[in-house]
Amino acid sequence: MRKPPVTILVSVLITSIVGLGSQLLAQSPPNAAIPVHATLNQLMRSVQFPLSNVIFASQADEPASIKRAPLPSAATDPLRSVFGGWQAVENSALALAESSTLLMLPGRVCANGSPVPVQDADWVRFVQGLRTAGTEAYRAAQSKSQAKMLEVSEQVSNSCSNCHRVYRRAGPEGADDLTNRCKLN
Ligand code: HEC
Repeated sequence: MRKPPVTILVSVLITSIVGLGSQLLAQSPPNAAIPVHATLNQLMRSVQFPLSNVIFASQADEPASIKRAPLPSAATDPLRSVFGGWQAVENSALALAESSTLLMLPGRVCANGSPVPVQDADWVRFVQGLRTAGTEAYRAAQSKSQAKMLEVSEQVSNSCSNCHRVYRRAGPEGADDLTNRCKLN
């Protein structure tokens, strides 16, 4: 028998790899493909909180006039780092927009052990609000206008509180009672 031409072999190989991939996806639990490491509360404290503070700070202090740290390559304040000033505001805004994708990953739990409600239409809407606020903040930072940062900071802040009002409600025992976290009612 004659050998099949190389191109056919390659396409057969690709087809079988693609087929295998979709079979694996279909059989795996939803969170097996992308691992998650933090509870929602830990994620908020480590990602959304510090990023939005860089955006909020640009209302009061003109980023271009913020002095670099003595060693900018080791700075812990993004505004004073080697990528500081307006670039730090741009980067934080972009990272905040990107962080909304992390809020949609299945498999993450909240501090009370409830799964992050990524299937709720309200949750999806609030996450989209954060994504939009992040991209708007990026545009405002690009324009280097503190007046625009003032406006967009309100949008960012609202995107946080809109979700917190629903999904971070205090429990019957008060603010430290986590019972209602990540639940609609
Ligand atoms: C889509 C919903 C949602 C959005 C958007 C959101 N959060 Fe949260 N956030 C939560 C929930 C729910 C909790 C409680 C998580 C838990 O208990 O595990 C929380 C917790 C936090 C905490 C921890 C509070 C504490 O007591 O430790 C901080 C800080 C925080 N969020 C900041 C922010 C900031 C800043 C933004 C906007 C830039 C934001 N969040 C946007 C849902 C959201």
